[in-house]
Amino acid sequence: MTSVVLGVTGGIAAYKAIELLRLLRESGLDVTVVPTQSALRFVGEPTWSALTGKPVATDVWSSTHEVPHVALGQHADLVLVAPATADFLARAAHGIASDLLTNVLLTARCPVVVAPAMHTEMWEHPATQANVATLRSRGVVVLEPSVGRLTGPDSGPGRLPDPERIAESAFDVLRGRGSRGTDLAGVRVVVSAGGTREPWDDVRFLANRSSGKQGFAVARAAVVRGAQVTVVVGSVEAPIPAGCEVVHAESAEDMRQAMHAVVADQSPDVVVMAAAVADFRPEREATGKITKESLGDKPDAVPELPLARTTDILAELVAKRGSHAHPIIVGFAAETPRPGEDLGDRARAKLRRKGCDFLVANAVTHGTVFGQDTTSVLIIDRDGAEQELPGVDKMAAAHALWDTLTPVIHADR
Ligand code: CTP
Repeated sequence: MTSVVLGVTGGIAAYKAIELLRLLRESGLDVTVVPTQSALRFVGEPTWSALTGKPVATDVWSSTHEVPHVALGQHADLVLVAPATADFLARAAHGIASDLLTNVLLTARCPVVVAPAMHTEMWEHPATQANVATLRSRGVVVLEPSVGRLTGPDSGPGRLPDPERIAESAFDVLRGRGSRGTDLAGVRVVVSAGGTREPWDDVRFLANRSSGKQGFAVARAAVVRGAQVTVVVGSVEAPIPAGCEVVHAESAEDMRQAMHAVVADQSPDVVVMAAAVADFRPEREATGKITKESLGDKPDAVPELPLARTTDILAELVAKRGSHAHPIIVGFAAETPRPGEDLGDRARAKLRRKGCDFLVANAVTHGTVFGQDTTSVLIIDRDGAEQELPGVDKMAAAHALWDTLTPVIHADR
């Protein structure tokens, strides 16, 4: 049975770890909760022992005959700490073993995932950021906190991500990362995901079928491999993954501006344009709602909808990069090949046209890909190498993409 140590430290978000524990247990994991003394001031020992069905070790001095500070770490397949306070991050970064949880960390050789939660000022303080960088450089996956309402009336980055999303990251690490470890530690990634909405009037827009699942899978796979990931999110059905910085964009033009701003600000190593950006938008956005009454007396009157082309963001990013090799730019291609037409030929032509370094192509005919968990992709690069992945989980496709990119990223640095 897969063993997880769930470390809970003393923040107000400790109550959310109850839900996280339930999700981990429901998926069949053997979970041992290790709360710190201050976590117990928020959620008491009986809650943890009742929910895990076993005694809860709260300090190094209980059950000493079982040497829990060594045994727990040695036997864990994953150590997950949520919420992680600034104090915990500091102790973990410096190898201070002042309680059972930090002892467990020093004995564990399995993956470690940490979900910090604290006030924005504490999160952004250079001391905390330095501790986070130290932990990341050692292969710990530190999830970026979410942005939102904090304990008081204020809001900002520092919220614990949703328990479901933290659990998803834990499952991603246990399932997907395999022997790759955190091979993207120190790598900055920007991923666009989802579709765009092109406004027509105050109530209507033109959109497409993109759910955001594939873009989010690319982001999730990068997060669990240790990258710092920003997602530029259009219109999506899928939940935004934990651990990413998030920038929202509605229309193709919003996404264009967001991509240029994020790329200029972060100077990422890799940009992945997984979003299904609209190619056409209503030429003019009407004010108010276009009513039937406004079209005159004819009962069958319909409004005209002249369209205009949007700007190709991918091509612009490539042009802006100019002759530099940095960042590596990856495009996606949603194709509907006609009978007799080859997906590979279309993908190669699109890669040449766009000038990007890699292209992930998929045939999207008859709703086979949009909104689904599986996909069939062809990954091609500028030098003609290609890899076909028929009928794979979107996470598997994402990991295959990172497997292809990782050596190029490291050669580029
Ligand atoms: N793309 C973009 N900006 C646009 C349209 C598309 O950056 N205005 C990006 C997509 O994010 C994707 C790639 O271009 O990475 C290919 O998108 P796709 O829609 O398959 O190709 P198009 O260039 O739009 O060509 P067509 O639809 O004519 O096949």
